[in-house]
Amino acid sequence: MNQYDEGRGSTGDTTGAAAPAPSRTAREHIEQTERFAAHNYHPLPVVLASGDGAWVTDVDGNRYLDCLAGYSALNFGHRPERLLRRAHEQLDRLALTSRAFYNDQLGPFAEALARLTGKERVLPMNSGAEAVETAVKVSRKWGYLVKGVEADRATVITMSGNFHGRTTTIVGFSDDPVATDHYGPFTPGFTRVPYGDIGALDEAIDDTVVAVLFEPVQGEGGVVVPPPGFLRDLRELCTRREVLMVADEIQSGLARTGRTFACDHEDVVPDVYVLGKALGGGLYPVSAVAADDDVLGVITPGTHGSTFGGNPLAAAIGHEVAAMLATGEYQERARVLGERLESGLRKLVGAGLLAVRARGLWAGVDIDPRLMTGREACEGLMRRGVLAKDTHGSTVRFAPPLVATGDEIDLLVDALAGVLAQARS
Ligand SMILES: Cc1ncc(COP(=O)(O)O)c(C=O)c1O
Repeated sequence: MNQYDEGRGSTGDTTGAAAPAPSRTAREHIEQTERFAAHNYHPLPVVLASGDGAWVTDVDGNRYLDCLAGYSALNFGHRPERLLRRAHEQLDRLALTSRAFYNDQLGPFAEALARLTGKERVLPMNSGAEAVETAVKVSRKWGYLVKGVEADRATVITMSGNFHGRTTTIVGFSDDPVATDHYGPFTPGFTRVPYGDIGALDEAIDDTVVAVLFEPVQGEGGVVVPPPGFLRDLRELCTRREVLMVADEIQSGLARTGRTFACDHEDVVPDVYVLGKALGGGLYPVSAVAADDDVLGVITPGTHGSTFGGNPLAAAIGHEVAAMLATGEYQERARVLGERLESGLRKLVGAGLLAVRARGLWAGVDIDPRLMTGREACEGLMRRGVLAKDTHGSTVRFAPPLVATGDEIDLLVDALAGVLAQARS
């Protein structure tokens, strides 16, 4: 037993392998969505209507353990009481001002996030992609104004298997054809090296390189952890070659991996943190770039901005999130529960799983493709009351909210064991 064991929620009617067929209401929602919304996603056939902590409930009253947690945007679970209270309070006072004026929430948020990251300044935005774009622009400008790179020659090095968002510039450096096909031409000034290959990085750096943009753990790639020592080597290389180390911690940061930032696992401090997802507490899109003055100081009035970035509601929520993370409680939960998740999943290697990769409460498992696809595994899990998301054909990712209990982590492992056993029988 440990302090996180307590409480195993019930999945209602969905614990068996044969869930009831979607009701007429659910079917109508699905048909309406398919009819009127663009088909840029292929959701599981479940229509969610409410959420509470680690659990969501569909329109038919079936409960599911949410093991995707909004791609880690829901680290604190659904409708976390403390954040909800703060958001309601702020909504009742002031929600949006634009940055044409000061507001009484942005300063406290900026200070709290600067202290959490150990950086001198932050630049608030909304979505993760906007924060990545901001980091790219800041890096280029730093390259011209501080490093002295020749005009319009700046290069940013990215890594194979990356996922940094969906804007035209960002997909331009993706190597996933699903993300890139028919969206070109793309923004020049990016090169790509194999993920985790320090030798390739060293070779790729020339006088035009201003930054290395990387994920300390690749989430969309399938929870890919770089080789031990890579982050430290990267830090040393970036310092030696005068290149900014830009860590996209949008998914890996803010306690998910058992530390505040995934870079902390190698005691490494990047020059730039890119943050999003959980920064909005699962309630609202809040993202930010954090860096010291020598980097973020290149941004001057009028040269970058966003109507919604740093608005009072976003700042109030982001401030509360930073305060919640300052205690270390969620990081510790992710560490302890993550060990339990990883050891449970490892027992399934050879029983339908080919591999398990994990860091903190975040795991990617490769399903034996002879048994089923990742999508089929997720459908099987859904029928057993667990929601998760496949990626790259046969990988399934698990990122339960950090407020899940140990018993709920066991429930997830049991559900996966059941799906695999059924496929093997
Ligand atoms: C590492 C990383 N960077 C950037 C993004 C893009 O964030 P958003 O979808 O909020 O634009 C994501 C989203 O999954 C991500 O995982």
